[in-house]
Amino acid sequence: MSDLDTLVRTATAEFAAAPTPAELENAKARFLGKAGRVTGLLKALGALPVEQKKTRGAEINEAKARIEAALQARRDALAEAELDAQLKAQALDVTLPGRRRGGGGLHPVSRTLARIEAIFASMGFDVAEGPEIETDWMSFTALNNPENHPARSMQDTFYVDMKDAEGRWLNLRPHTSPMQVRYARAHAAKHAAAEAAGQPVPEIRVIAPGRVYRVDSDATHSPMFHQVEGLWIGENVSFKDLKVVFTGFVREFFETSDFDVRFRPSFFPFTEPSAEIDIAFGHGPLAGRWLEVAGSGQVHPNVVRNYGLDPEHHIGFAFGMGGDRMAMLRYGIDDLRMMFDGDLRFLAQFR
Ligand code: DAH
Repeated sequence: MSDLDTLVRTATAEFAAAPTPAELENAKARFLGKAGRVTGLLKALGALPVEQKKTRGAEINEAKARIEAALQARRDALAEAELDAQLKAQALDVTLPGRRRGGGGLHPVSRTLARIEAIFASMGFDVAEGPEIETDWMSFTALNNPENHPARSMQDTFYVDMKDAEGRWLNLRPHTSPMQVRYARAHAAKHAAAEAAGQPVPEIRVIAPGRVYRVDSDATHSPMFHQVEGLWIGENVSFKDLKVVFTGFVREFFETSDFDVRFRPSFFPFTEPSAEIDIAFGHGPLAGRWLEVAGSGQVHPNVVRNYGLDPEHHIGFAFGMGGDRMAMLRYGIDDLRMMFDGDLRFLAQFR
């Protein structure tokens, strides 16, 4: 065996013995590096006579090519082994149950509010949202509920440790009724301009869904719940319109005509006359039971004044509906607390 064959064998054996890429590169240097053995042989060529130089040079180059091929083969083998090891380390147990991507869904209250909004929008109502932290004036005084008036205790209000510009404690709104005032005041200038120009005065027709807060907590009361305020003010909007609108809404919402609506006389400071709206279904598990779903009434002249409008020319009705109550009736839920516990076994049913 020629010295070159031996060299190729030695190199191949050393490459094979290198357990890591780094050690393989060291072995490579011993043969192909600047001070390596192949390089040494090529340098030695210079001392040979011309005709030997040619054949010996060709032989060395051929041996060098074989060494390089052996090196590449070992590099590939090491890379493959590393990949194998990595794959083994990250091995998947395909017998494990898959991790399912949890499908999200809208909360039953969100669905219900969206449904209520869509129905009122189809009747020409705008949808407005307002702040949950309110001033005393917006939550009470503007709604004809003066300071120290006993009617204020109808709502056990949460107060915020911060005062408004008038030095009164801010509150977590106990109802959505302040939105009547906020919305009407935002549009009052438009009304005044139309009136001054002798044009037909635009109507206010709006619903305001949102969260409200009261110090109250049991199976049918939560300290946070939802209401949908409704307001329709025009030159000639009457209680009859309230009946038509609300009855139409109930029909759409529950997708049935098999129910009765009753307007039960009541008291609210911001309406006169005032009524609770009850409904009773003619079928289903609640058949024949009167269920209170909203407070309502003809807006009190003092409140219209606080809208920035003249109660001689602007009259209409308002209502405040229980948003959660509507969701419970629609889905047959009997405990309000389920709505806000965040229990996925309950919520997943509405996906
Ligand atoms: N704000 C009342 C409450 O929270 C509900 C209500 C009653 C709203 C009559 C109204 C209304 O707009 O006209 O109990």
